[in-house]
This record gives sequence, structure tokens and C-alpha cells, in this order.
Amino acid sequence: MSRRPLIAGNWKMNTTRNDALALASALTDADLPQNVDVAVFPPSIWIEAVRRALGQDIHLGAQDCSAEVKGAFTGQVAAVQLRELCDMVIVGHSERRRDAYESDELVGRKAAAALAAGLTPIACVGESLEVREAGEAENVVGSQVDAIVQAIGDVPASEFVLAYEPIWAIGTGRSASSEDAQSMCAFIRSRIGAGGPDVRILYGGSVVPDNAGAYLAQADVDGLLVGGASLKADQFLAIVAAC
Ligand code: PGA
Repeated sequence: MSRRPLIAGNWKMNTTRNDALALASALTDADLPQNVDVAVFPPSIWIEAVRRALGQDIHLGAQDCSAEVKGAFTGQVAAVQLRELCDMVIVGHSERRRDAYESDELVGRKAAAALAAGLTPIACVGESLEVREAGEAENVVGSQVDAIVQAIGDVPASEFVLAYEPIWAIGTGRSASSEDAQSMCAFIRSRIGAGGPDVRILYGGSVVPDNAGAYLAQADVDGLLVGGASLKADQFLAIVAAC
């Protein structure tokens, strides 16, 4: 089984237009390894500009999409609209689940909408600290995975990506141990069922150059979803180089 590593940079609600272009140019000018997929997720308003600055071999995506195809949905952006600009989209990030009250069911529908539009979704799952301490992490993450798998039906497993991001590790500097990341990614893979061996599963949460290699060495961790460290070209490139 060979799953190509994917390093994804989620810029969140950071970067001015100039910052975004400078970051895109720095990545484009770098010598990227051939054995890894690299993707960046700028704020949606900069996607078009970043697209023009970005080299062909770097994937580009949005941080969210609508579950709806078109119509009266003020403020939302449809997957088919994004597809005109980029090839990937993050859905179900814990900050969307928290701030926009996104349910497991809605996240599943967003993943399905992305796939129907020809985008590769990175669907995020992960538990809170409270849930982990109560010993319920696998129950909660398992339900999140089930909702995504059910919504996308029989799409080949190689066409979507999952990301395990424990909420307590995001932006906190408190990363999960590589053993914890491996154990949950293995659990997620088994939960997916028949297509499990083909799905790329990323770890995310306080990834930095110093800990990237330890995650990537795990059998069921196929890449990384990087927040803060993706805003600095040298750090992001060092993480890419750890593949
Ligand atoms: P972080 O964010 O790397 O800043 O912890 C990760 C994410 O939210 O994807």
C-alpha cells in the first residue's frame, strides 16, 4: 500500500493580500520534493490571487464550502464555484464545528458536495479534551467518521482525505504524541471499512518542524494539516522536507 504523503497548510483568517502573495511566491520558488503533495488553503478572498502566484505543482484549496449547490445562501460559497479556482477544500474543521455550529451530518454533506463538484475534500474529525479525558475519544471520532463515510457513499477512497485533529492540540502548542496520533489514525482507517487502506489520513494540531518527522514515521499517518507553522514559509518548507 503506498499512499502519497500530503502536507496541507491552513492559513485560517490570517494574511493580508500581500502576505498571501509573498507566502505563495516563497513556496513556488522552493525546490519541493517530488514524493509529496503540497497544498495551501488561503482565506477564500485571496484564492484567485494566490492561484496566479502559485506554481503548478502546489495544490490550492478553500477552508470551507457550502453543502448546497446554488441559490439563496448569503455568505456561502458553493463547491462548484470553488472548483473554478482550486482543487481541494477543508470541511468540518473544528473551528467551523465550534463557531458555526456545524453538525456531523452537515460536515458529511459538505464532503459530498465537494466530491460532486470535483474537489478533493479534507474532512476533519477530532475530540475535545473533555471527551478524551472521559475515555470517549474513539466513540466521538468514530461517529464523525461514520457521518462522512455515509454521506459520500461509494466514492473511491483515494478521492478524499481525512484529518485527525484533536481539538486540544490545535493552536495550543500541546501536540498529541505520535503514538496517540498513530493509534487514532489506525482506528479511523479501520472505521472507514473496505476503502480504509486507500484513504489518506492526516494528523493536525501544533505541528512544527521539530515534531513533523515523528508523525510522518507512523504507519497510518499519511501527512499533516498545519496551521500556525504554515504561515512561515521556512517552517512550512521544513515540514514538507520531513516527508
Ligand atoms: P495549528 O492548527 O497547527 O496552528 O495547531 C492546525 C489546524 O487547525 O489545522
